[in-house]
Amino acid sequence: MIQKYMLSLCFLVYGQVALAQNEHKMSDTYQIPKDSLVRQKLARWQDQKFGLFMHWGTYSQWGVAESWTICPDDWVTRTGPYSSDYFTYKKAYENLQTTFNPVNFNPEKWVRAAKAAGMNYVVFTTKHHDGFSMFDTKQTDYKITDPKTPFSKNPRADITKEIFNAFRKDNFMIGAYFSKPDWHNENYWWPYYPPKDHNVNYDPQRYPERWQKFKDFTYNQIEELMTGYGKIDILWLDGGWVRPSQAKDNDPQHYNQDIDMARIAKMSRGHQPGLIMVDRTVTGEFENYTTPEQEVPDKPLSYPWETCMTIGKYWSYVPDDEFKPSIQLVQTLIKIVSRGGNLLLNIAPGPNGDWNPIAYQRLQDIADWMKINGQGIYGSEPVAPYSAGNIYFTRSKAKRALYAFWLSEKDTVALPPTVSFGVNNIKQLKKVSLLGSAQKLKWRYSNGLLNIQIPGTLQKSAKLKYSGTFVLEY
Ligand code: GLC
Repeated sequence: MIQKYMLSLCFLVYGQVALAQNEHKMSDTYQIPKDSLVRQKLARWQDQKFGLFMHWGTYSQWGVAESWTICPDDWVTRTGPYSSDYFTYKKAYENLQTTFNPVNFNPEKWVRAAKAAGMNYVVFTTKHHDGFSMFDTKQTDYKITDPKTPFSKNPRADITKEIFNAFRKDNFMIGAYFSKPDWHNENYWWPYYPPKDHNVNYDPQRYPERWQKFKDFTYNQIEELMTGYGKIDILWLDGGWVRPSQAKDNDPQHYNQDIDMARIAKMSRGHQPGLIMVDRTVTGEFENYTTPEQEVPDKPLSYPWETCMTIGKYWSYVPDDEFKPSIQLVQTLIKIVSRGGNLLLNIAPGPNGDWNPIAYQRLQDIADWMKINGQGIYGSEPVAPYSAGNIYFTRSKAKRALYAFWLSEKDTVALPPTVSFGVNNIKQLKKVSLLGSAQKLKWRYSNGLLNIQIPGTLQKSAKLKYSGTFVLEY
């Protein structure tokens, strides 16, 4: 019964992902940060290439989508034992706080797996839209460290702190995901009115004092994260509908939800110099990089960007989630890096505090691939023509070398007798080799076209997976 209940919820929320994408269009109004420390950190971040995203909260106990099932948007439907009406459901959802006890929580295990796979930064949901704080906030008792939450008795109860410390120890850059909307807070969804949709449920212009309280609450929570959790590199702010806009016809979609980002930024950067702010989809001064969601732009973008993507279908833990095959994950990373972006890959911890074992297998496959091919990913930059057919290019920043990733259709690489592609401006090509193979390669370069001959033995037994990566030294 419970299984069926979980699945039906998940299907509907999957539909929501597609819907949400429209809200996450990339910006063409990028503003280069004025603060040189931010620019430096941004440049360092762009070199990280691959990061780990984690959506985790009490919702993992039901195996339903993060937060969205308590949203009254009219595309959301609820099934299962508490679905008779909205308020019964929301109450039961909030009550998940009293049973959340992820005793297998062991962030060091995640660090090891992520590190081996070549991930270099982490972004964690310190608070999602439902308002449950996965850190020890003083602003609310709807939090992981409240006595009502069984896990509060655990020595590692401040989950955010434990995650950040564990990853920082291994030199990961640290990103705090924080939802601006808060569906638990009485000054965002004022209980006097029923919630109408994902927006604030009263007009902030009409009730400025109430809205001010919400602004202060948000400011204070972010300040706690900026002061009590060590060095933070990225403040990843979700819920782009919380933004300044003109009130129009009493329409909640157009309520002016100005949270005073300038004040938040000043405070945050006072504590965390050079902090990267990602006020996603809002555009302008506080969206230091853009975050295409579940999609890879088909060409390089002229500003820093990161694709965020789920390893399965869902952002949150779902018992039988369908994981993407390793070949797809690796090749997605190659495509993104060839276009100058980063990949933030989401893996969701389950209610017991650990990942699905399949996630570890996927990261192990990526790790094996990285051992051979990672040099074409890290320290690289995009280079025209970026790709040609199934071949994707990067250029080393440090040495005179180009990398050409020949993407395989199957897991096992079977190279053709000749690999040909056009390359511009390689005047003195000195050497062509294939990563993971010691065999000498013959090649001819003329009129911009490179023809690499693949010896018969190598065609049959390159022993490579997902891609054959050629290095062109010049
Ligand atoms: C989508 C989901 C949201 C999730 C986000 C991550 O917008 O609706 O719940 O946090 O993706 O990028």
